Amino acid sequence: MKVDNFRLQLGKKEYVPIVIGGMGVNISTSELALEAERLGGIGHISDAEVCYVCDQLFSTAYTTRKRKKYSYNAGNRNKSDVYFDLGDLAEAQKMYIEHTISRKSGNGAIFLNCMEKLTMRDAGETLRTRLSAAMDGGIDGLTLAAGLNLRTLDLIKDHPRFHDVKIGIIISSLRALQIFLKRAIRMERIPDYIVVEGPLAGGHLGFGPEDWQTYDLFTIVTEVISFLKSENLDIPVIPAGGIFTGSDAVRYLESGASAVQVATRFTITKESGLPSNVKQNYLNTEQNDIVVNTVSPTGYPMRMLKSSPVLNYGIKPNCEGFGYLLDNKGKCGYIDAYYEALEARKEGEHHLKVSDQTCLCTGMAKYDCWTCGDTTWRLKETTNKLQDGTWQFPNAEDIFRDYQFSENHRIEKPPIDRE
Ligand SMILES: Cc1cc2nc3c(=O)[nH]c(=O)nc-3n(C[C@H](O)[C@H](O)[C@H](O)COP(=O)(O)O)c2cc1C
Repeated sequence: MKVDNFRLQLGKKEYVPIVIGGMGVNISTSELALEAERLGGIGHISDAEVCYVCDQLFSTAYTTRKRKKYSYNAGNRNKSDVYFDLGDLAEAQKMYIEHTISRKSGNGAIFLNCMEKLTMRDAGETLRTRLSAAMDGGIDGLTLAAGLNLRTLDLIKDHPRFHDVKIGIIISSLRALQIFLKRAIRMERIPDYIVVEGPLAGGHLGFGPEDWQTYDLFTIVTEVISFLKSENLDIPVIPAGGIFTGSDAVRYLESGASAVQVATRFTITKESGLPSNVKQNYLNTEQNDIVVNTVSPTGYPMRMLKSSPVLNYGIKPNCEGFGYLLDNKGKCGYIDAYYEALEARKEGEHHLKVSDQTCLCTGMAKYDCWTCGDTTWRLKETTNKLQDGTWQFPNAEDIFRDYQFSENHRIEKPPIDRE
């Protein structure tokens, strides 16, 4: 059996049951998502730090403008003045979505990974703006990620596309699903798909920093599927986290899952937004180079390479320009940690290191936070070492097709690149 024997049915449309998960900030690029779409699957872009991403892609100046507007506050520990301009945010989001959607060429779909934990100083209004502008821009689906909020559906219920856009949620436990569903059923807008993300995924984890190892994706997926059956709810379930081969995927598809969501294997593709040196680092990773830590100010544990530059950060908070993690009071855990480290710094000490928190806004924007899935150390099985000792970056199509057609856990390496 191979993945290609199965299809994902969403509404009236059928897809190859491979979903490339969202990877912020601009690691899952438009180009990566569009490859999944071209090949009949589903690709995600992520709207994490979308104003900054637009500045990089389209030479807009959202970040500079915001930084200038609030420059008077740069030395202030209190960031409660610093808001996003909702007009700018809507414009940036729509531009980014349209830039992707207008280049669709296949039968697949482009979804948006929307991390609700990016509270952006005004969680409700910025989230409403992001989701509405994404629908205005023509996005096919919205995947509500980290920080899933019960009130999110209310925020967009008056949008003309509320019933036509696909809406999915990412959960890591049956309990989280049950809580969300209660509200969704009352609103008569149940999710169109459910991504169940297990403890081996990349990015932020929906488990505790100490106990994530005690959970197992297969068990959670089985619980979710049997709960949905018992409630007569026909919602596709999409497991994510640690699915490394086509045969890993088939195991889930044979057990009632409708598709799989994968990401780590695509981090080293040509289309991934990571810089080349970081892709090489991922490929050279060994199992004990990976850590799950609590430095993210979101409060969620995060998996990353121990060599990530963010783990040595002592930079001044950059909330006037970024500020994506500011909560509704204008606070972010890194700001306090930074000022405490500054006060504790001994005379003559040049490098300031903030150890228990990091500035994720800057870290993700600069590709200094090397977040990764648990299977990153296996990436070297998936491509060729070149004569100069570096690794070849496969095309996204190579990886997508390997998932789609491989059997017996075989991994097909890409043809050697002679460019
Ligand atoms: C580099 C990287 C960045 C990620 N960033 C995000 C993100 O911004 N938002 C999110 O919901 N999930 C994120 N994820 C999780 C993926 O979307 C996906 O669900 C998961 O990693 C799949 O497991 P796998 O990587 O083992 O294939 C990220 C994963 C990786 C590897």
